[in-house]
Amino acid sequence: MNRPPIGVFDSGVGGLTVLRALRAAMPAEDFIYLGDTARLPYGTKSAETVVRYSLQCAAHLVARGIRCLVVACNTASASSLDALRLRFPHLTVIGGIEAGAQAAVAASVSQRIAVIATEGTINGGAYQNAIQRLNAASRVTTAACSLFVAMAEEGWTSGPIAEAVARRYLQPIFNDDQAPDTLVLGCTHFPVLAASIRAVLPAGVKVVDSAMTTAAAVLKQLHVDVDTRSPDSPAIPVIRGACTWLATDDAARFARVGGTFLGETLSADSIEIIDL
Ligand code: DGL
Repeated sequence: MNRPPIGVFDSGVGGLTVLRALRAAMPAEDFIYLGDTARLPYGTKSAETVVRYSLQCAAHLVARGIRCLVVACNTASASSLDALRLRFPHLTVIGGIEAGAQAAVAASVSQRIAVIATEGTINGGAYQNAIQRLNAASRVTTAACSLFVAMAEEGWTSGPIAEAVARRYLQPIFNDDQAPDTLVLGCTHFPVLAASIRAVLPAGVKVVDSAMTTAAAVLKQLHVDVDTRSPDSPAIPVIRGACTWLATDDAARFARVGGTFLGETLSADSIEIIDL
């Protein structure tokens, strides 16, 4: 018997970096992905607005019968996890900030950690607080890199423009011998720019990819769910699960840009445009 799908949402196509990792790890699962492309970016909006949008995304996915919700957007995780858990108390809601903070603290030798994310994530202090809770002695440097979101959505992920923007954002952080030894990509749009970001980092800086750590947190959490709720499963999956694609605007654009994030071709016809 098929289990209900896992719901995943982001402001746009960034969360597809999380979904890609999840589908690779759990190929038999069914997913519903919602990109709130009509209202992107979330990162420059107030926390109140992002909470409202997140609750609307979640309500739509819950109405479609998801069994758990992955907030594949750090900006939404930073502001909305409590509100989502309060509104949907029986739903497992998984965000990415905590797992990214844990990975950074584990990776850093000097405990000087840089976090780049959207303006909303940085201004709300979610990563700074999560890292400090794990190690009060750590020193966190941050930069809001809002332009990276637009570049990722535009597909400008490599080449001289991407590197120049990466240099402009990162050079001030990594310019002396007290510089951080670990960088958190605290936005699910940023992993597609990883090569350009690495190209301007000093050698040896470790990069924590919040899309991968969010996916890992989901796997860990779902493993617990599987163990406790259905002891007979799972069999080794052989059949590829289905993915339902939802966006709030422009199916053609979602298919074109999203396909590169996913690493597979998406057809505009397969994307359902919804109104939240
Ligand atoms: N992908 C989202 C995140 O992880 C943010 C993009 C946006 O600003 O909408 O924070």
